[in-house]
Amino acid sequence: MRVVIAGGHGKIALLLERLLAGRGDQAVGLVRNPAHVADVSDAGAEAVVCDLEAASADDVAALLSGAAAVVFAAGAGAGSGAPRKDTVDRGASVLMADAAERAGVRRFVQISSMGAGQPPRPGTDEVWAAYIAAKTAAEDDLRARDLDWTIVRPGHLTDAPATGRVRLAVPPVPAGNVPRADVAAVIAALLDEPGTWHQTLELTGGDSPVAAAVRST
Ligand SMILES: NC(=O)c1ccc[n+]([C@@H]2O[C@H](COP(=O)([O-])OP(=O)(O)OC[C@H]3O[C@@H](n4cnc5c(N)ncnc54)[C@H](OP(=O)(O)O)[C@@H]3O)[C@@H](O)[C@H]2O)c1
Repeated sequence: MRVVIAGGHGKIALLLERLLAGRGDQAVGLVRNPAHVADVSDAGAEAVVCDLEAASADDVAALLSGAAAVVFAAGAGAGSGAPRKDTVDRGASVLMADAAERAGVRRFVQISSMGAGQPPRPGTDEVWAAYIAAKTAAEDDLRARDLDWTIVRPGHLTDAPATGRVRLAVPPVPAGNVPRADVAAVIAALLDEPGTWHQTLELTGGDSPVAAAVRST
């Protein structure tokens, strides 16, 4: 299976690329910084330089030729302000979904965030509010499309080693941490699990082995 990952040099993306390569899938990581190509190659994926805040849907659709699935793993990141939450966390997801439709790639897994889907609490920090608004708008955009989508909302991400055990369920799931390595394993398992199409799932650390958690959603 050829899987194109938006935000291919992200921490989850690099872990996912290793998992996909290890099971014989072809991963393609879209990166905006040419200096990141070597890390993506080291993870066993093909790297393609593509700035998702500058590319057109036709540009990206051309990169999706032959793909079976798209994973949206990009994000403006912790140091960014409100405008880039909109251009990356919302805008780049919309761009990838537009491109997937044009290229006829039906499977689309979006990494969102716990907290999306609800208005931010009054008094919330402006940048956090913009982030949650962007993730919510990206989710709404994807749900409205004729694609085989799954939305995954992880809790607080950590760089701890994989545990292989998670809690994955329709909202609401109590807030909690989850290692990026376990998020990557869940996404790899979700890709070829049609039972998860058209589901919005929250994800934290938990007790269920990843494969069982994905099968039972
Ligand atoms: N932090 C948390 O606790 C938390 C919780 C729930 C969900 N999430 C979400 O989980 C997702 C993945 O998290 P992560 O920690 O793996 O993210 P990450 O390491 O910050 O990776 C995000 C990637 O997106 C890339 N990106 C940004 N702008 C881009 C552009 N214009 N074109 C192409 N790529 C671009 C970044 O590239 P550059 O290095 O070039 O900027 C980076 O490689 C994000 O969407 C994040 O919002 C985070």
